[in-house]
Amino acid sequence: MRDVIIACDFPSAEETLAFLDKFEGEKRKPFVKIGMELYYGAGNEIVREIKRRGHKIFLDLKLHDIPNTVRKAMKVLSALDVDMTNVHASGTVEMMRAALEGLTRADGTRPLLIAVTQLTSTSEEAMQKQLLINAGINDTIAHYARNAREAGLDGVVCSPLESALVKEACGKDFITVTPGIRFADAAADDQVRITTPARAREIGSDFIVVGRPITAASDPVAAYRRCVKEFLEQ
Ligand code: C5P
Repeated sequence: MRDVIIACDFPSAEETLAFLDKFEGEKRKPFVKIGMELYYGAGNEIVREIKRRGHKIFLDLKLHDIPNTVRKAMKVLSALDVDMTNVHASGTVEMMRAALEGLTRADGTRPLLIAVTQLTSTSEEAMQKQLLINAGINDTIAHYARNAREAGLDGVVCSPLESALVKEACGKDFITVTPGIRFADAAADDQVRITTPARAREIGSDFIVVGRPITAASDPVAAYRRCVKEFLEQ
C-alpha cells in the first residue's frame, strides 16, 4: 500500500506527458498526483491518458461544497477510475459521508478517499483570528482526522510531522498522505515544515507526495529512485 506519489504540477498535458515519458522504461510506474492546475487546464483527457500509461492516480481536487453537490461530483469522478481523491474535512462529517457514497461504484469498489484537515499553509494564528477556531492547530488536526474516520474515509493529507498525531488519534491503519518532503541535501523552496523520505517512513507516513525534488531535478528518474529507496526500501 505504501508508495511515493509524484506531484505533477505542470500547466499543460504536453509538459506532463513529456515528463512522464522519462519513466517509460522504469519497472516501477510512478503513482502520479494531478492537482487543480493540471486538471482545470487539461481536464479528464489527461487523467485518462496517464491511466492508459499504467500509472496510479491521486486526483487532488479537495472538494468542499454542500453534501448533495459533493455526492454528485464524486459520482462523476468515480467513473474516471482514479486510485485516490480528496475533500476538505471542514465540509463536515455529513459532507464526507456524501462524498464516500458518491464515489462508491455499483459493484462496491471505489478509490481511496482522504481528507484535508487544515492546510499546511494555514498558521495557528490565521486559524484562530480569521477562522475563529479557538483550539490549537494540532488539536484541530486530530479532531478533523477523527471526523474523517467517523465518516468512513481512509485517511488524511497532513504534514509528515503530524503523521504520528493522526495515527495516535485514529489508529495506525488510518492512512497519512504527506507532502513537504525534501532530500537532506536540498533546498526547502517555499515549504516550511519539511522532512526527508527516510524520516517520513520512520514517523509513519503511508504515502509521500513529492513535487519539485523530482520534477525540477536534473535527472528526475534518479531522484524518483532515490525517494523510493529512502522511503520504501531502506
Ligand atoms: O514541490 P513540492 O514537493 O513542494 O510539492 C508538494 C505538492 O503537495 C504540491 O502539489 C502541493 O500543492 C501539495 N501540497 C502541499 N501541502 C499541503 C497539501 C498539498 O505541499 N498541505
